[in-house]
Amino acid sequence: MQVRPNDLKDMVVLVVGCGTPGSIGSAIAQALADAGAALVLADLATSKLVAVGQKLVEQGHRVLTQAVDLVSENSVEELVSFAQKSFGRLDAVVNAAAATNLIGRDRGVTDMEAAVWDQMFAVNVRGAMFICKYAIPAMLTGSGGAIVNISAGKTLRGDVDTTANSASKAALNALTRSVATIYGERGIRCNAIAPGPILTELVNSVVPPAIAKIIRDCTLLGELGVPEDIANLAVFLVSKRSKMYSKGKIRLDLLAVKHAGPRSRVGDFSGPSARAAKFRTSWRRVTWECISASRKW
Ligand SMILES: NC(=O)c1ccc[n+]([C@@H]2O[C@H](COP(=O)([O-])OP(=O)(O)OC[C@H]3O[C@@H](n4cnc5c(N)ncnc54)[C@H](O)[C@@H]3O)[C@@H](O)[C@H]2O)c1
Repeated sequence: MQVRPNDLKDMVVLVVGCGTPGSIGSAIAQALADAGAALVLADLATSKLVAVGQKLVEQGHRVLTQAVDLVSENSVEELVSFAQKSFGRLDAVVNAAAATNLIGRDRGVTDMEAAVWDQMFAVNVRGAMFICKYAIPAMLTGSGGAIVNISAGKTLRGDVDTTANSASKAALNALTRSVATIYGERGIRCNAIAPGPILTELVNSVVPPAIAKIIRDCTLLGELGVPEDIANLAVFLVSKRSKMYSKGKIRLDLLAVKHAGPRSRVGDFSGPSARAAKFRTSWRRVTWECISASRKW
């Protein structure tokens, strides 16, 4: 799928959760801008968000930035209003935000802190609902629009930790389907992208090559995705090229398919085999390395 320079000409797109350079959200912002859209970029972390926006402005793109806290309904309402007033319309929203800062505390249910569960759902589900609540009326003042939610492949295959994140992303998939069903006849399309592990700049900087190799070996194609893989699909789902596509969840997740083996379900690496145990240990280490690195940022 190739992004073409005029695919999103004259469109105004709000991108939420793009405040980290080298992240999935920032790659989505770059790809949308390259396809010709005017953008409003939003995130909780505004210092790095400004840098992401500035880079695009220097490339000649029309980009504004705005702080938002998805936990606050007022903050989301103000963001959508800002986007609509700034460019006079709103055509699409891509929501890549998630409470990724909690992943290190997000364990199995027997170790779950209620506060972690609640905050994960407050950002990943309630926040996504607020975005839809305010963006849909804004898009309906025009001829409709598109919403793209970034979910996660682990909702289907499970994961060795991160139960709250996984459950919240499953709820996000359900929200996506409800929005597509209820508002489809008024011209709103709503889709989700469900990535497996993606080599963001942060992941790349902290995962030792030996561990990256183990994870790569657990994928169908021997490759891990990069943020641009998600970004290209997001551009397609925002563009009119996907005008017949809604209520979908596109899984960009090749993890653990290849080595699942005949005794286990596809994507199940919870079994007793040596390979499954090695994968679990490596994946936990990857998660913890990412968490400690992100704390230093
Ligand atoms: N990187 C992966 O391997 C991977 C895999 C599957 C799904 N995902 C999903 O992709 C998306 C992007 O992930 P990423 O790896 O680039 O991580 P990231 O941490 O760079 O992106 C998440 C963003 O959400 C923002 N955010 C957190 N709480 C917020 C709040 N209350 N209000 C507004 N913004 C808030 C963060 O500041 C951050 O910029 C996330 O939804 C994540 O769950 C990532």
